[in-house]
Amino acid sequence: MSGNITLTMIKPMAVKKGFIGPILNKIAEGGFRIVAMKYTKLSLEQAQKFYEVHRERPFYGELTEFMSSGPIVAAVLEKDNAVQAYRDYIGATDPSKAEEGTIRKLYGTNLGMNAVHGSDSDENANIEANFFFPTSERY
Ligand code: CMP
Repeated sequence: MSGNITLTMIKPMAVKKGFIGPILNKIAEGGFRIVAMKYTKLSLEQAQKFYEVHRERPFYGELTEFMSSGPIVAAVLEKDNAVQAYRDYIGATDPSKAEEGTIRKLYGTNLGMNAVHGSDSDENANIEANFFFPTSERY
């Protein structure tokens, strides 16, 4: 059975470009309810832990350095079938390949700086939500 939460991060470049407001608006328009949210900055060690599943990938160093380079917004979002619904809504990982109107197409810069993260499975959504938010901070 598919779950009803996913974890998103608005990445440092999208924050720097002033896209927090537009992206949160788009998230609301898509029918996702914010369960928890924070404006924060990851240390390199935290970024390495968050992206642990990609440790062996050639882009792991670049990814974790970028994700710890400036503030981010992390949020737990709720909707039926949230993981897949949000992945569809944000568009392809590479903004240049994302469909028109998707968050990554609208606000992404390139493959690494693709505006937002979205969990890729229910299992990872729970792991990632727990990474940022104890259940006492979810409403
Ligand atoms: P995200 O959804 O945060 O999950 C892992 C991230 O790795 C992905 O978005 C991309 O930003 C990044 N990524 C994937 N492939 C590459 C790549 N080839 N080079 C740089 N970054 C990548």
